[in-house]
Amino acid sequence: MKIFNDINELRKHLEIYRTEGKTIGLVPTMGYLHKGHISLVQKSVKDNDITVLSIYVNPTQFGPTEDLDKYPKDLENDKKLAKEAGVDVIFIPTNSVMYLDNHATYVNVDNLTDNLCGKSRPTHFRGVTTIVTKLFNIVQPNGAYFGQKDAQQAIVIKKMVKDLNMPIDIIICPIVRENDGLALSSRNTYLNTEERNQATILYESLQKSKECIKNGEQSATIIKDMIKEMIEEKPSATIDYISIVNEDTLEDIDYIQGNILIALAVKIGQTRLIDNLRMEVNLIC
Ligand code: PAF
Repeated sequence: MKIFNDINELRKHLEIYRTEGKTIGLVPTMGYLHKGHISLVQKSVKDNDITVLSIYVNPTQFGPTEDLDKYPKDLENDKKLAKEAGVDVIFIPTNSVMYLDNHATYVNVDNLTDNLCGKSRPTHFRGVTTIVTKLFNIVQPNGAYFGQKDAQQAIVIKKMVKDLNMPIDIIICPIVRENDGLALSSRNTYLNTEERNQATILYESLQKSKECIKNGEQSATIIKDMIKEMIEEKPSATIDYISIVNEDTLEDIDYIQGNILIALAVKIGQTRLIDNLRMEVNLIC
């Protein structure tokens, strides 16, 4: 496994693979790897000749009061896990490598970034789409792998790739969960024991919603109220949003029909967690 911090060195190395006709998969991460990241690596290893993992905590996707400074890091463990999972190349740039002092260019996806996380994190997706574009330009992968846990991010990146004609397949992999349902996230490490116990409410409320919809409930308001009631029973929980949206437009819906996404963002103590559920609902009225 090779490790690069420099863009030109990385490019030179990847060029050798490309001239040999090898396919390259990219797994962009912010490090502190867990089984969710490893599932993306495993899929890339299966699909491609070469897998590149990037580890970079991208400052432009954090708001001024967010956790940029305390974002968890364990580079040695990341390298070990990456190697075991079959990563060929790790790219670990510094801020000065990724953003020149006079950086002035950003990529923005309109509309899809207005709702859900975009409401409380207004500059977040601009940071994500900018850094992902930069990583795509640096690595020039055949495919790039992202997790379904960041559902809005996945939809926004797919839209960007389509609109800007980027010749890259975007592969979205399923959410990986703990045994009790909590979606894996590097931020779970912030939770104390009591908060960790309460955090399963996101998954539990999504499962309950699925059951109600399967039993014929068609009102988004009724489902959202039920989720709200369940979450509010947890003393450490503060709701950011509970939304039911059309999966293509990410606009709120009143009537549950077609491809829908139920998306939650909830603070447990000081830790903001997200989770979601996709459903295809074909109810006959
Ligand atoms: O999902 C993440 O970890 C980040 O948003 C990404 C895609 C690596 C961009 O910094």
